[in-house]
Formats: sequence, structure tokens, C-alpha cells
Amino acid sequence: MTAQIIDGKLVAGEIKAKVKERVEALKARGVTPGLAAVLVGDDPASATYVSSKAKACEQLGIYSEVIRKPATTAQSELVDIVRSLNANPKIHGILVQSPLPKQIDEMAVTLIIDPRKDVDGFHPHNVGLMLMGRGHLLPCTPHGIIKLMEYYKIDPSGKEVVVVGRSNIVGKPVAALLMQKAPMANATVTVAHSQSRNLAEIVRRADIVIAAIGRPRTITAEMIKPGAVVIDVGVNRVEESTSTKGYRLVGDVDFAGCFEKASYITPVPGGVGPMTIAMLMSNTVSAAEEFAQNRS
Ligand code: GUN
Repeated sequence: MTAQIIDGKLVAGEIKAKVKERVEALKARGVTPGLAAVLVGDDPASATYVSSKAKACEQLGIYSEVIRKPATTAQSELVDIVRSLNANPKIHGILVQSPLPKQIDEMAVTLIIDPRKDVDGFHPHNVGLMLMGRGHLLPCTPHGIIKLMEYYKIDPSGKEVVVVGRSNIVGKPVAALLMQKAPMANATVTVAHSQSRNLAEIVRRADIVIAAIGRPRTITAEMIKPGAVVIDVGVNRVEESTSTKGYRLVGDVDFAGCFEKASYITPVPGGVGPMTIAMLMSNTVSAAEEFAQNRS
């Protein structure tokens, strides 16, 4: 058996086309959705993400600002930037790119973001609503994973899902979303992580594996059940001297091996990554729709 490849670019393209229609409807009501991305420091992967987000905004007619600050930026300055974005009526979504330099307390910054503009869904207000099944601004990567499964008619209801990784950005929220009593959820969810004993044994139980541990090729073919659905959230740069960039992007899954055994698999790049951006665009427009609603 070889797996069907889940085409994140295709699904993200369809979602973005719908978002574009919503942007046009908002503009007809006199509101141009706006997203501000704040990038502190010069982490190359973060810079790439932020440029992709700005490019997607441009494609869809969303106003965007990128605020770039040096790695030495003080927390107080970042807090002032977020406060001014909270008060800026042209901005409906605020994203502070993670990771932040060591001198900055990420949580303190997240707490300053107006929850109505929290298009990452990272503010405890939105995390709490999501956990209770009432989320409005859902975290982009987890929501994108569910949209991918929906498109390919992979219904997690009643299935064993093993999430490998427990980050606040992916592992914890995707587990929370999939355990809800809701359509495209209702799964039996296990969260494994770097300290789990017998990772292979746990992963082998899974009908659906979501790999978000941030370690290259951690999930191998030997670890998965034949016919499992394999969703790879990892984006790891591994050195490759033959590449012009000097590195190659690989996921948390050994793609070549798992491709032979899975029923569906996401590639890296071109799987989950484009979905994160599509859902960010969707959240930005949702925040702007809410703003337009409350204004009129
Ligand atoms: N760093 C890696 N992924 C993300 C994301 O989805 N949002 C933000 N703000 N930072 C990230």
C-alpha cells in the first residue's frame, strides 16, 4: 500500500479563495481587514514565515504591516508596540512571531494582545473558549489540520488519535479540538511527548498520528499501524551541502518509509504549512467581520 498525499497547497488555495470573497464583502461595507505581524530578531525561519504571511495578505486584499525589531528589543518596547496595535483601527489581527528572544517573556506579551485581535488564538481567553468548545479565533495550525482532514473526508470521530508533542502552539490545542463533542472531532486522543516511554507502542495504536515534536524523522514506518493517517507538522532544517541553501526542510516523520504504509500522509513542505497561513487569513477576516458587526 502506498499513501495518498494530502495536498495542503490545494486545500489552502480553496480556503483562501473563500476568504477573498469575505474580504471583498467587508470592503463593500467600508472595512478593509488588517493584519500586523511583529518580528523580533533575525531567526531565518521566522522571517520566512512572516514574509509568507504578508504575501498571503497581499494576494487576498488584506492590509498588512510587518514590524521588524532587533533581537535586543526590550520587553517594554514590545509591549508598547502591541498596545498601539490594539488601539489601531486599521488593524484587526495581531501576531507576534514566536520564538521571541530570551529577555522577553512571551506569556506577558500574549496577555497584552486584545483577545478580539488575537488571530493566533494564543491568549488564555481564546484558549479557554476553545477548550470549552466555544472558540471563535482557533489556533491556526490545529484548525488547519482539521480542515485538511475534512477535505479528504478523514473523520476522526471514534478513532484513536495520537498527538506526538505537547506545545502550546500545536500539540495541546490540536488534542483539545479533536476531543470535543463536535463534528470533525469526537476522537479518543492520546498525547505523547519527549518523556513518553514506549513511544513506538503508543503510536502503533493510532488510526491518526499527528507529529508535532520538532525532531526530524522521529516517526518511522515501524512505529505506525498499516493504513494509519499521518499528519506531519514538523518543519526542521537539516544540513545538506548539495543544496544551494545549505539545508533541506524535513518533517517529524520519515516520509519515504511511512508513505509505503500509511493510507494518507502530509508532505513537508506543502502539507500542514500552507494551511496555517490560510487559517491565519481566515481568522484575520473573522476578527474584521466581528469589528464591522460591532461598529454598525
Ligand atoms: N511560530 C511558529 N508558529 C507560529 C504561529 O503559528 N504563530 C506565531 N505567532 N508564531 C509562530
